[in-house]
Amino acid sequence: MSLIQCTNLTKEYSKGDNIIRPLDDLNLTVSEGTFLALMGPSGSGKTTLLNLIAGIDQPTSGSLMIDNHEISHYSRSKLTAWRSKYIGYIFQLYNLVPVLTAYENVELPLLLHKMSRKDRHAKVASALELVDIADRHSHYPRQLSGGQEQRVAIARAIVTDPKIIVADEPTGDLDKTSANNIMNLLVQLNKELNKTILMVTHDPLTSEYASLTLHLDKGRLVEKEVHA
Ligand SMILES: Nc1ncnc2c1ncn2[C@@H]1O[C@H](COP(=O)(O)OP(=O)(O)OP(=O)(O)O)[C@@H](O)[C@H]1O
Ligand SMILES: [Mg+2]
Repeated sequence: MSLIQCTNLTKEYSKGDNIIRPLDDLNLTVSEGTFLALMGPSGSGKTTLLNLIAGIDQPTSGSLMIDNHEISHYSRSKLTAWRSKYIGYIFQLYNLVPVLTAYENVELPLLLHKMSRKDRHAKVASALELVDIADRHSHYPRQLSGGQEQRVAIARAIVTDPKIIVADEPTGDLDKTSANNIMNLLVQLNKELNKTILMVTHDPLTSEYASLTLHLDKGRLVEKEVHA
């Protein structure tokens, strides 16, 4: 079943007389449970596409259907509420809040949802457990290694049980061992929890963890590789 459907998706920015078009009439269908890698040169529109699908930004034209919702028509506030239910976002530089502990960072997205303190605790504990960082729950980001910070960030992305995880170069700042650990964790989320994952990477070896790689160039899809 198609979970994400982009039709003639276009994003433009105007600077004076100049129009920049990071996404140009892009068509893309992603089925539920896909692990998709997006590759392409710098400036080809990868982050722009992730941000539109994550409801962080809105398209200039075209349609963006996610789970049968046409999110391109949503108001900013409706989009924020929608995003907190559907999307978990993982960044290259983790983006943890430095003055909060690992536990409090993971708890943060749940504060947008109505639930008891006890339920919240159970969800945070199980997310920390899943990424194998529960023993560091009271540590602050500065007391963690990069790989550990990224695991906390993944716990934060999945604690609300979103259908879609978007990850922008999630291993871009990590050594090889930590990067492999993070990729294995993403594969586990995809295979065991059926999360649909959209990941940007510059590294062909990293893209091989995905089931499908799409290449973007100048805001258009130019090539598709299906992995065994
Ligand atoms: N807010 C903005 N205002 C103007 N131009 C923008 C804005 N955001 C992105 N762009 C432009 O859109 C194009 C695509 O940017 P994008 O960040 O999607 O590229 P990318 O493929 O993620 O590149 P990288 O691999 O370097 O991260 C670039 O030319 C960029 O300068
Ligand atoms: Mg980018």
